[in-house]
Amino acid sequence: MIAPPRRNGPPPAVQVDHLTVSYGPAPVLLDISFQIEPGQLVGVIGPNGSGKSTLIKSILGFVKPDLGEVRLFGVPSEKARKRVAYVPQRGAVDWDFPVTVEQVVMMGRYGQIPWWAWGPSHDDRLAVDDALETVRMTKFRRRQIGQLSGGQQQRVFMARALAQGADILLLDEPFAGVDAATERALLEVLDSTKGAGRTLIVVHHDLATAAEYFDALLLIKQRLFAFGSPQQVLQPELLSEVYEGSLRAFEHLRDVSTGGTR
Ligand SMILES: Nc1ncnc2c1ncn2[C@@H]1O[C@H](COP(=O)(O)OP(=O)(O)O)[C@@H](O)[C@H]1O
Ligand SMILES: [Mg+2]
Repeated sequence: MIAPPRRNGPPPAVQVDHLTVSYGPAPVLLDISFQIEPGQLVGVIGPNGSGKSTLIKSILGFVKPDLGEVRLFGVPSEKARKRVAYVPQRGAVDWDFPVTVEQVVMMGRYGQIPWWAWGPSHDDRLAVDDALETVRMTKFRRRQIGQLSGGQQQRVFMARALAQGADILLLDEPFAGVDAATERALLEVLDSTKGAGRTLIVVHHDLATAAEYFDALLLIKQRLFAFGSPQQVLQPELLSEVYEGSLRAFEHLRDVSTGGTR
């Protein structure tokens, strides 16, 4: 299921080779290798604590691997930071920070430079306007981020990633804690972003919708258990091995094995 090394043609958007990461004595990710072609919408699934967020942070270069490497468009990830945007897990953000919607999106234009230290250019403002329009948050632009619903907050962070103009977007559980209508709206933004040729890697915890939402899935629990089409990855035996009989996973197996989500 893992494609052989390439000799010709453009490099993959994301190439992970023998990635091993640990925070303590035991590795959280062990010898993970895969590559993703540009323009794919890829889901990352696996139980809690299986290393999904760590994989995202490793691709971003936030976490240093013990072994292995990550290349983005053929370049080591630390040299391609501007080409990647990150939409963090909602729980990882301080929502009391006194900043408006448009200021958050403008941060996407400045990278590491704080927004107050630099005057936005005409292009910066256009990019922010476009991004807000794409996620349909224009009318909330002057609102403090703490006063938004969970789904609106997700859309603002999605807009920040779009304003950055990155070719690769990494999202950590964007659908967690949002209502069904917001989930649909976010999915449309992900699809249109993919349609614009960008590559998206999305941590997702709902196996029931995984086949419908993604072109390919990465199933991880410390190791990479499977990588391929949803049909290849959502195999009952594989899932029961990785999820170890979690009841919730088994409920979805019925749907998955009968093709119920397509
Ligand atoms: N900063 C950290 N320091 C120490 N351990 C961590 C840290 N971040 C995550 N871990 C541990 O690494 C494992 C994988 O975590 P994580 O990547 O967040 O998994 P997931 O996103 O799949 O729930 C868990 O056991 C978690 O407790
Ligand atoms: Mg996580």
